[in-house]
Amino acid sequence: MCGIVGIVGRDSVADALVEALRRLEYRGYDSAGIATLERGRLDRRRAEGKLSNLQRKLVETPLPGAIGIGHTRWATHGRPNETNAHPHATGRLAVVHNGIIENFRELKNELEAAGARFESETDTEVVAQLVSHLMDQGLGPVAAVAAALPRLHGAFALAFLFAGEEDFLIGARHGAPLAIGYGQGETYLGSDALALAPFTDEITYLEEGDWAILTRDGAEIRDIAGNLARRPRQRIATQAYLVDKGNHRHFMAKEIHEQPEVVGRTLAHYVDMARGQVVLREALPFDFARLSRLSITACGTAYYAGLVAKYWFETLARLPVEIDVASETRYREPPLERDGLTLVISQSGETADTLASLRYAKAQGQHTLAVVNVPTSTIARESSAVMPTFAGPEIGVASTKAFSCQLTVLLCLALAAGRARGTLSAERERAIVDALITAPGLMAEAVTMEAAIEGLAREIAKARDVLYLGRGTSYPMALEGALKLKEISYIHAEGYAAGELKHGPIALIDESVPVIVIAPHDAIFEKTVSNMQEVAARGGRIILVGDAKGAAAAGLETLATLTMPEVDPVIAPIVYAVPIQLIAYHTAVFMGKDVDQPRNLAKSVTVE
Ligand code: F6R
Repeated sequence: MCGIVGIVGRDSVADALVEALRRLEYRGYDSAGIATLERGRLDRRRAEGKLSNLQRKLVETPLPGAIGIGHTRWATHGRPNETNAHPHATGRLAVVHNGIIENFRELKNELEAAGARFESETDTEVVAQLVSHLMDQGLGPVAAVAAALPRLHGAFALAFLFAGEEDFLIGARHGAPLAIGYGQGETYLGSDALALAPFTDEITYLEEGDWAILTRDGAEIRDIAGNLARRPRQRIATQAYLVDKGNHRHFMAKEIHEQPEVVGRTLAHYVDMARGQVVLREALPFDFARLSRLSITACGTAYYAGLVAKYWFETLARLPVEIDVASETRYREPPLERDGLTLVISQSGETADTLASLRYAKAQGQHTLAVVNVPTSTIARESSAVMPTFAGPEIGVASTKAFSCQLTVLLCLALAAGRARGTLSAERERAIVDALITAPGLMAEAVTMEAAIEGLAREIAKARDVLYLGRGTSYPMALEGALKLKEISYIHAEGYAAGELKHGPIALIDESVPVIVIAPHDAIFEKTVSNMQEVAARGGRIILVGDAKGAAAAGLETLATLTMPEVDPVIAPIVYAVPIQLIAYHTAVFMGKDVDQPRNLAKSVTVE
């Protein structure tokens, strides 16, 4: 993970580096640092914790200089303290790094044997020492980087700044994204276009193995073999990168509230409202009718969206689905049919395990289809077809609006598959599309339960453990509810298939454990009621997230009932995403947690 930036500028660059890092904090916020050159002299400021700590330091001891690099860290090697913070430096150069250098131990031993002295526990410092060592042997900066890169194993992106070299920076991409931005007499480097959006809308994405020498006039790009490479310049719609909280206290709150709008925007792309039909504007290089199975892979919340989609593809399109988390898929090496289909789901489009699974599927001769939120991401670029979600930038670390937009796209895709495979009548498709069109309105209605959820959150905040239960598509929603709660409130939470409770987890139930049951009034509601009764009989305190019909039919005493609007059960997961997100959000806020930047997490997981 981590975010890196670099600027070859005209005036002082420290503020601009910090501004770019602020936009990269979603990639990690364990420490931050910048290095610049002032009259050829290398200097740096680093601080443990959030970027605001670095900003304070820069007020006390400013860092002049018109060329510099910066870093925001998600710790992999070594504790998140100042010594391990980037940039790492020797007398000759400073370097910032995103990713992992897998052979760092071997390189460190070699360099120590040659006399290098290391300060930090990081893998990054070996890069600084290695390049320095090569320069000690007489190579210039460019030749030293060119000689060092092939010696580094792993997935990484790097930016180098050299003492005495005020006119250029070097950036390198090997498995982690890196973009170059062009300004008026200034050139920029960043982990993504979002970081560079305040300065430029003209971007080049480096390709795998590329490295580049950035000067004030532009960039010279070389490919992995060292040959000059031409990479296209693209215009990026910078307004798409405007990020502020509006009137909300946190990005997460804003993003939960935005869902009716962004789900509506996503639907507008995939649905012909007048004809009551799904329309796929993106050409698909395969035919759903010819598939014998669908493989889905993703991580975290995106994986849970995939689990919901499994129910949709299997019931609506009668298409068998195999799904696994990407960190398992990539090493499990599942047999995949040539010309079959692998579907990957990712908000960021940069998740290392998802990307590796995508590449594995491609190598097996599969078609690949990506549901992604960042259309310029590596996963989007490497898939044979892309189904974009239109959630807009998601800044809160806990995924909310990206999830509901993923569900929306996946349901549209399952409907298209059902039509192609002849398993879904035009009437049924129209009925589901009509229901889908009501989703934004129903989500807006669900948001109005916020005050009730805020009250309930005070009760949940007292718990040490919380269980979530659901059946059918509400089962993955239970998993997602538990993930959301634990990641931002740090309360231990688990999601279970309601019917699985009696096979073990029921032993956990007592009066201190709130049990959140996600149960719209659907065909299997009665079965869930039986499971709620089992919980109630053991003194468990039930919080029912359901509709009025279900609450009346269940006739159970609950700690609370969140009465949702009535929804068509097929679209229920999209609408029910709202209360489960609000429960986690308000619990964490009540407990005084940092909801937008929870401990130990990062928004974009570019390490495996
Ligand atoms: C949880 C969360 C993570 C991500 C996961 C995959 O709220 O945000 O579990 O869903 O890291 O990330 P993407 O979707 O970017 O591949």
